[in-house]
Amino acid sequence: MTTIIYEQSWQGRERAQQWERRADLVIPKRQEIFSVMVQVLPFCGEAPLRMLDLGCGTGSLAEVVLARYPNATVTGLDNSLEMLEIGQAKYADQAERVHFLLRDLEQPDWNEDLGDHYDAILSCLAIHLISDDAKRRLYRQVFQMLTPAGCFVSADRLRAATPALDALYHEHWLHYIVRRTKEVLNKDVPLETVRERQRTMDASAGLKCATLEENMAWLREAGFPVVECFWKDYQRAVFGGFKVDG
Ligand SMILES: C[S@@+](CC[C@H](N)C(=O)[O-])C[C@H]1O[C@@H](n2cnc3c(N)ncnc32)[C@H](O)[C@@H]1O
Repeated sequence: MTTIIYEQSWQGRERAQQWERRADLVIPKRQEIFSVMVQVLPFCGEAPLRMLDLGCGTGSLAEVVLARYPNATVTGLDNSLEMLEIGQAKYADQAERVHFLLRDLEQPDWNEDLGDHYDAILSCLAIHLISDDAKRRLYRQVFQMLTPAGCFVSADRLRAATPALDALYHEHWLHYIVRRTKEVLNKDVPLETVRERQRTMDASAGLKCATLEENMAWLREAGFPVVECFWKDYQRAVFGGFKVDG
């Protein structure tokens, strides 16, 4: 049997390139998630919005944001230099609209010098990679960084309400990857291979998933008067907070 060694954690060029190539294959309904995140933003299309994307990876979300909001600027933050390099190359001809900064969201000073003038702060599948203490602190910081009419929208991987549901959702995902690998790449990949790969990737990434209810409670605690789950599919959800009601 061939032993496959997978890249550890989210750092490194190989991991960044692999994410860029495979994210749409392995993340169920990824484009639908992006689309929900943008659709729930309460702004008109021509607005010159300022947005942040926390844990932006290679900047895929910015593409959908800019298609809907052509006058927006997006600043993407990530702690992987290699992810940001791929992003910078992709947006080389739109550098005035999409910026990238190397920041570690686990650190209390990740937002130092970023200011408090953002209309929307977004994050896709990244906040489950920081500790619960860092999540709570980040939600409080995000609240302070938004304009009075601003909002925060996060798509994230969650811990289910019970270990049995967690296991069920995870199994569902593994089967999804097997099916998609066949459909998209025409490759038969054994379920056990996918299981082991995901186990090592999750272990090295240090998953710190919280439940949907914990995340929503922490957003309320941070000051958001309106907190909502917009979409959910097994272990992933799109949720967030608005600073104003209505
Ligand atoms: C699953 S990827 C999602 C990337 C991107 N948001 C997307 O949807 O395509 C998770 C991202 O979070 C970043 N990340 C993980 N821990 C981080 C941290 N402590 N600070 C900043 N970024 C982090 C990783 O480098 C990676 O780019």
